[in-house]
Amino acid sequence: MPTDPSSPAVRPAPRAGAPRLEGRVAVVTGAGSGIGRATAARLAAEGASVVASDRDEAAARETASVIGDRALAVQADVTDADAMARLVEQAVARFGGVDVFHNNAGMAQAAKPLADVGRAEWDALIAVNLTAFFVGAQAVAPAMRERGGGSIVVTASTSAVHPRPGLSAYAAAKSGVLGLTRALALELAADRIRVNAINPVAVKTPMLQEFRLAAEDELLDKMAATIPLGSAIDAEDVAAAVAYLASDDARFVTGIALNVDGGRDL
Ligand SMILES: NC(=O)c1ccc[n+]([C@@H]2O[C@H](COP(=O)([O-])OP(=O)(O)OC[C@H]3O[C@@H](n4cnc5c(N)ncnc54)[C@H](O)[C@@H]3O)[C@@H](O)[C@H]2O)c1
Repeated sequence: MPTDPSSPAVRPAPRAGAPRLEGRVAVVTGAGSGIGRATAARLAAEGASVVASDRDEAAARETASVIGDRALAVQADVTDADAMARLVEQAVARFGGVDVFHNNAGMAQAAKPLADVGRAEWDALIAVNLTAFFVGAQAVAPAMRERGGGSIVVTASTSAVHPRPGLSAYAAAKSGVLGLTRALALELAADRIRVNAINPVAVKTPMLQEFRLAAEDELLDKMAATIPLGSAIDAEDVAAAVAYLASDDARFVTGIALNVDGGRDL
Protein backbone atom coordinates (compact mmCIF):
# COMPACT_ATOMS: atom_id res chain seq x y z
CA MET A 1 0.00 0.00 0.00
CA PRO A 2 1.60 3.35 -0.94
CA THR A 3 1.88 5.78 1.96
CA ASP A 4 2.19 8.86 -0.26
CA PRO A 5 -1.29 10.45 -0.29
CA SER A 6 -0.59 12.01 -3.68
CA SER A 7 -0.47 8.53 -5.24
CA PRO A 8 -3.32 6.59 -3.64
CA ALA A 9 -3.82 2.93 -4.38
CA VAL A 10 -6.24 2.50 -7.27
CA ARG A 11 -9.14 0.35 -6.21
CA PRO A 12 -10.71 -1.57 -9.07
CA ALA A 13 -14.09 -0.13 -10.01
CA PRO A 14 -16.95 -2.55 -9.39
CA ARG A 15 -18.04 -4.53 -12.44
CA ALA A 16 -20.78 -2.51 -14.16
CA GLY A 17 -24.17 -4.04 -13.46
CA ALA A 18 -22.88 -6.30 -10.65
CA PRO A 19 -25.52 -6.66 -7.91
CA ARG A 20 -24.40 -4.39 -5.09
CA LEU A 21 -26.07 -6.38 -2.32
CA GLU A 22 -25.26 -9.97 -3.28
CA GLY A 23 -25.03 -12.09 -0.13
CA ARG A 24 -26.45 -9.37 2.12
CA VAL A 25 -29.50 -9.74 4.33
CA ALA A 26 -31.91 -6.80 4.60
CA VAL A 27 -34.79 -6.24 7.02
CA VAL A 28 -37.41 -3.70 5.90
CA THR A 29 -40.22 -2.45 8.13
CA GLY A 30 -43.47 -1.12 6.70
CA ALA A 31 -42.72 -3.42 3.77
CA GLY A 32 -46.38 -4.12 3.09
CA SER A 33 -46.96 -0.87 1.21
CA GLY A 34 -45.49 2.19 -0.45
CA ILE A 35 -41.82 2.97 0.16
CA GLY A 36 -41.16 -0.19 2.19
CA ARG A 37 -42.58 -2.44 -0.52
CA ALA A 38 -40.58 -0.65 -3.21
CA THR A 39 -37.42 -0.89 -1.11
CA ALA A 40 -37.87 -4.60 -0.39
CA ALA A 41 -38.18 -5.22 -4.13
CA ARG A 42 -35.22 -2.98 -4.98
CA LEU A 43 -32.88 -4.51 -2.38
CA ALA A 44 -33.83 -7.98 -3.61
CA ALA A 45 -33.20 -6.92 -7.21
CA GLU A 46 -29.73 -5.79 -6.10
CA GLY A 47 -29.04 -9.29 -4.74
CA ALA A 48 -30.10 -9.15 -1.07
CA SER A 49 -32.20 -11.64 0.83
CA VAL A 50 -35.05 -9.64 2.31
CA VAL A 51 -37.18 -9.89 5.42
CA ALA A 52 -40.36 -7.97 4.60
CA SER A 53 -41.96 -6.94 7.86
CA ASP A 54 -45.19 -5.10 8.52
CA ARG A 55 -47.89 -4.81 11.16
CA ASP A 56 -50.24 -5.99 8.42
CA GLU A 57 -49.29 -9.64 7.92
CA ALA A 58 -51.18 -10.16 4.65
CA ALA A 59 -49.49 -7.11 3.12
CA ALA A 60 -46.04 -8.32 4.21
CA ARG A 61 -46.77 -11.72 2.67
CA GLU A 62 -47.82 -10.14 -0.58
CA THR A 63 -44.53 -8.22 -0.82
CA ALA A 64 -42.53 -11.36 -0.01
CA SER A 65 -44.45 -13.43 -2.55
CA VAL A 66 -43.62 -10.97 -5.33
CA ILE A 67 -39.90 -11.26 -4.45
CA GLY A 68 -39.94 -15.06 -4.17
CA ASP A 69 -37.54 -17.49 -2.45
CA ARG A 70 -35.14 -14.89 -1.13
CA ALA A 71 -37.85 -13.19 0.91
CA LEU A 72 -39.44 -13.92 4.26
CA ALA A 73 -42.58 -12.18 5.55
CA VAL A 74 -42.71 -11.40 9.28
CA GLN A 75 -45.56 -9.70 11.10
CA ALA A 76 -44.25 -7.18 13.66
CA ASP A 77 -45.35 -3.90 15.19
CA VAL A 78 -42.34 -1.57 15.20
CA THR A 79 -43.26 -0.09 18.58
CA ASP A 80 -43.04 -3.50 20.27
CA ALA A 81 -39.48 -4.25 21.46
CA ASP A 82 -40.16 -7.98 21.89
CA ALA A 83 -41.62 -8.24 18.39
CA MET A 84 -38.59 -6.44 16.94
CA ALA A 85 -36.22 -8.78 18.80
CA ARG A 86 -38.14 -11.75 17.34
CA LEU A 87 -37.96 -10.16 13.88
CA VAL A 88 -34.15 -10.02 14.09
CA GLU A 89 -34.05 -13.60 15.42
CA GLN A 90 -36.12 -14.79 12.47
CA ALA A 91 -33.87 -12.98 10.00
CA VAL A 92 -30.78 -14.60 11.55
CA ALA A 93 -32.42 -18.04 11.69
CA ARG A 94 -33.52 -17.93 8.04
CA PHE A 95 -30.71 -16.04 6.32
CA GLY A 96 -27.78 -16.14 8.80
CA GLY A 97 -27.58 -12.51 9.92
CA VAL A 98 -28.61 -8.94 9.24
CA ASP A 99 -26.55 -6.47 7.18
CA VAL A 100 -29.13 -3.84 6.26
CA PHE A 101 -32.02 -2.46 8.28
CA HIS A 102 -34.49 -0.10 6.66
CA ASN A 103 -36.46 1.43 9.52
CA ASN A 104 -39.33 2.69 7.42
CA ALA A 105 -42.75 2.04 8.96
CA GLY A 106 -44.44 5.28 9.85
CA MET A 107 -47.74 7.00 10.49
CA ALA A 108 -49.20 10.19 9.02
CA GLN A 109 -50.67 13.03 11.02
CA ALA A 110 -53.91 14.40 9.64
CA ALA A 111 -53.08 18.12 9.42
CA LYS A 112 -54.65 20.17 12.21
CA PRO A 113 -53.86 23.19 14.41
CA LEU A 114 -51.75 22.64 17.51
CA ALA A 115 -54.75 23.20 19.80
CA ASP A 116 -56.56 20.25 18.23
CA VAL A 117 -53.76 17.71 18.63
CA GLY A 118 -54.79 15.38 21.45
CA ARG A 119 -52.21 13.90 23.79
CA ALA A 120 -53.00 10.34 22.64
CA GLU A 121 -52.47 11.36 19.02
CA TRP A 122 -49.16 13.05 19.88
CA ASP A 123 -48.00 9.95 21.79
CA ALA A 124 -48.95 7.60 18.94
CA LEU A 125 -47.15 9.71 16.33
CA ILE A 126 -44.00 9.91 18.45
CA ALA A 127 -44.15 6.17 19.22
CA VAL A 128 -44.41 4.97 15.61
CA ASN A 129 -42.29 7.63 13.93
CA LEU A 130 -39.51 8.15 16.50
CA THR A 131 -39.48 5.71 19.43
CA ALA A 132 -39.71 2.77 17.02
CA PHE A 133 -36.41 3.84 15.46
CA PHE A 134 -34.75 3.62 18.90
CA VAL A 135 -36.41 0.22 19.46
CA GLY A 136 -35.42 -1.07 16.02
CA ALA A 137 -31.82 0.12 16.24
CA GLN A 138 -31.48 -1.48 19.65
CA ALA A 139 -32.81 -4.77 18.29
CA VAL A 140 -30.68 -4.88 15.17
CA ALA A 141 -27.30 -3.48 16.28
CA PRO A 142 -26.05 -6.65 18.05
CA ALA A 143 -26.75 -8.77 14.96
CA MET A 144 -24.88 -6.26 12.76
CA ARG A 145 -21.97 -6.23 15.20
CA GLU A 146 -21.81 -10.04 14.82
CA ARG A 147 -21.42 -9.54 11.04
CA GLY A 148 -18.66 -6.95 11.48
CA GLY A 149 -20.84 -4.01 10.46
CA GLY A 150 -23.97 -2.99 8.64
CA SER A 151 -26.13 -0.19 7.33
CA ILE A 152 -29.17 1.29 9.06
CA VAL A 153 -31.33 3.54 6.90
CA VAL A 154 -34.31 5.35 8.37
CA THR A 155 -37.10 7.02 6.44
CA ALA A 156 -37.40 10.50 7.93
CA SER A 157 -39.14 13.28 5.98
CA THR A 158 -38.65 16.77 4.59
CA SER A 159 -41.10 17.67 7.40
CA ALA A 160 -38.08 17.42 9.70
CA VAL A 161 -36.31 20.30 7.95
CA HIS A 162 -39.07 22.13 6.05
CA PRO A 163 -42.36 21.53 7.89
CA ARG A 164 -45.85 22.20 6.59
CA PRO A 165 -48.49 23.83 8.86
CA GLY A 166 -50.61 21.37 10.82
CA LEU A 167 -48.05 18.57 11.05
CA SER A 168 -46.51 19.50 14.43
CA ALA A 169 -46.23 16.04 15.99
CA TYR A 170 -45.12 14.42 12.74
CA ALA A 171 -42.45 17.08 12.17
CA ALA A 172 -41.25 16.78 15.77
CA ALA A 173 -40.94 13.00 15.47
CA LYS A 174 -39.09 13.15 12.16
CA SER A 175 -36.74 15.86 13.50
CA GLY A 176 -36.00 13.54 16.41
CA VAL A 177 -35.20 10.82 13.88
CA LEU A 178 -32.52 13.04 12.34
CA GLY A 179 -31.00 13.70 15.78
CA LEU A 180 -30.97 10.00 16.61
CA THR A 181 -29.45 9.23 13.20
CA ARG A 182 -26.49 11.49 13.91
CA ALA A 183 -26.07 10.25 17.49
CA LEU A 184 -26.15 6.59 16.45
CA ALA A 185 -23.87 7.19 13.45
CA LEU A 186 -21.24 8.44 15.87
CA GLU A 187 -21.85 5.81 18.52
CA LEU A 188 -21.94 2.82 16.18
CA ALA A 189 -19.11 3.88 13.86
CA ALA A 190 -16.61 1.85 15.89
CA ASP A 191 -18.70 -1.24 15.05
CA ARG A 192 -18.68 -0.23 11.36
CA ILE A 193 -22.42 0.23 11.50
CA ARG A 194 -23.41 3.22 9.33
CA VAL A 195 -26.62 5.09 10.13
CA ASN A 196 -28.25 7.41 7.60
CA ALA A 197 -31.64 9.01 7.03
CA ILE A 198 -33.60 9.80 3.91
CA ASN A 199 -35.91 12.81 3.68
CA PRO A 200 -38.54 12.15 1.03
CA VAL A 201 -41.20 14.63 0.02
CA ALA A 202 -44.77 13.87 -1.10
CA VAL A 203 -44.40 10.25 -2.17
CA LYS A 204 -47.24 8.70 -4.19
CA THR A 205 -48.27 6.12 -1.58
CA PRO A 206 -51.49 5.53 0.40
CA MET A 207 -50.05 7.66 3.22
CA LEU A 208 -49.98 10.84 1.18
CA GLN A 209 -53.76 11.27 1.36
CA GLU A 210 -53.71 10.64 5.11
CA PHE A 211 -51.96 13.97 5.75
CA ARG A 212 -55.16 15.65 4.45
CA LEU A 213 -53.18 18.55 3.02
CA ALA A 214 -55.61 19.04 0.11
CA ALA A 215 -58.73 17.56 -1.44
CA GLU A 216 -58.02 14.17 -3.04
CA ASP A 217 -58.37 15.34 -6.64
CA GLU A 218 -56.08 18.38 -6.09
CA LEU A 219 -53.45 16.80 -3.88
CA LEU A 220 -50.79 15.86 -6.43
CA ASP A 221 -50.98 19.24 -8.19
CA LYS A 222 -50.81 21.12 -4.88
CA MET A 223 -47.83 19.10 -3.74
CA ALA A 224 -46.10 19.48 -7.11
CA ALA A 225 -46.44 23.24 -6.85
CA THR A 226 -44.19 23.18 -3.75
CA ILE A 227 -41.49 21.01 -5.36
CA PRO A 228 -38.96 22.69 -7.68
CA LEU A 229 -38.59 19.58 -9.87
CA GLY A 230 -42.31 19.81 -10.37
CA SER A 231 -43.99 16.58 -9.25
CA ALA A 232 -44.67 14.32 -6.31
CA ILE A 233 -42.19 11.45 -6.29
CA ASP A 234 -42.42 7.69 -6.69
CA ALA A 235 -41.66 5.18 -3.94
CA GLU A 236 -39.04 3.70 -6.28
CA ASP A 237 -37.06 6.96 -6.11
CA VAL A 238 -36.77 6.54 -2.34
CA ALA A 239 -35.94 2.85 -2.75
CA ALA A 240 -33.04 3.75 -5.06
CA ALA A 241 -31.61 6.03 -2.37
CA VAL A 242 -31.98 3.29 0.27
CA ALA A 243 -30.13 0.84 -1.99
CA TYR A 244 -27.26 3.30 -2.37
CA LEU A 245 -26.97 3.91 1.39
CA ALA A 246 -27.23 0.16 2.04
CA SER A 247 -24.43 -0.65 -0.38
CA ASP A 248 -20.65 -0.36 -0.22
CA ASP A 249 -20.93 2.58 -2.63
CA ALA A 250 -21.80 4.50 0.55
CA ARG A 251 -19.17 2.82 2.73
CA PHE A 252 -17.87 6.18 3.97
CA VAL A 253 -21.27 7.82 4.27
CA THR A 254 -22.72 8.00 7.75
CA GLY A 255 -24.82 10.40 9.80
CA ILE A 256 -26.37 12.17 6.81
CA ALA A 257 -29.92 13.00 5.81
CA LEU A 258 -30.27 12.50 2.07
CA ASN A 259 -33.07 14.63 0.64
CA VAL A 260 -35.11 12.87 -2.04
CA ASP A 261 -37.35 15.86 -2.41
CA GLY A 262 -37.08 17.37 -5.86
CA GLY A 263 -35.47 20.45 -4.31
CA ARG A 264 -38.28 21.16 -1.82
CA ASP A 265 -35.78 22.09 0.90
CA LEU A 266 -34.00 24.75 -1.19
N1 LIG B 1 -45.78 9.21 1.54
C1 LIG B 1 -45.13 10.34 1.79
O1 LIG B 1 -45.44 11.40 1.23
C2 LIG B 1 -43.97 10.36 2.74
C3 LIG B 1 -43.12 11.49 2.74
C4 LIG B 1 -42.04 11.52 3.62
C5 LIG B 1 -41.82 10.46 4.48
N2 LIG B 1 -42.66 9.38 4.46
C6 LIG B 1 -42.36 8.29 5.38
O2 LIG B 1 -42.15 7.12 4.62
C7 LIG B 1 -42.41 5.97 5.44
C8 LIG B 1 -43.27 4.98 4.67
O3 LIG B 1 -44.49 5.60 4.34
P1 LIG B 1 -45.32 5.27 3.01
O4 LIG B 1 -45.59 6.55 2.34
O5 LIG B 1 -44.69 4.16 2.26
O6 LIG B 1 -46.70 4.83 3.70
P2 LIG B 1 -47.68 3.58 3.47
O7 LIG B 1 -48.90 3.94 4.23
O8 LIG B 1 -47.77 3.26 2.03
O9 LIG B 1 -46.93 2.38 4.20
C9 LIG B 1 -46.69 2.37 5.59
C10 LIG B 1 -46.61 0.92 6.04
O10 LIG B 1 -46.21 0.92 7.42
C11 LIG B 1 -46.98 -0.03 8.11
N3 LIG B 1 -47.06 0.34 9.52
C12 LIG B 1 -47.68 1.42 10.06
N4 LIG B 1 -47.56 1.40 11.38
C13 LIG B 1 -46.83 0.30 11.70
C14 LIG B 1 -46.38 -0.26 12.91
N5 LIG B 1 -46.64 0.31 14.11
N6 LIG B 1 -45.64 -1.39 12.86
C15 LIG B 1 -45.35 -1.97 11.68
N7 LIG B 1 -45.79 -1.51 10.50
C16 LIG B 1 -46.51 -0.37 10.51
C17 LIG B 1 -48.35 0.00 7.42
O11 LIG B 1 -49.08 -1.20 7.67
C18 LIG B 1 -47.96 0.18 5.97
O12 LIG B 1 -47.79 -1.06 5.30
C19 LIG B 1 -43.04 6.52 6.72
O13 LIG B 1 -42.07 6.56 7.74
C20 LIG B 1 -43.47 7.92 6.34
O14 LIG B 1 -43.53 8.77 7.45
C21 LIG B 1 -43.72 9.30 3.59
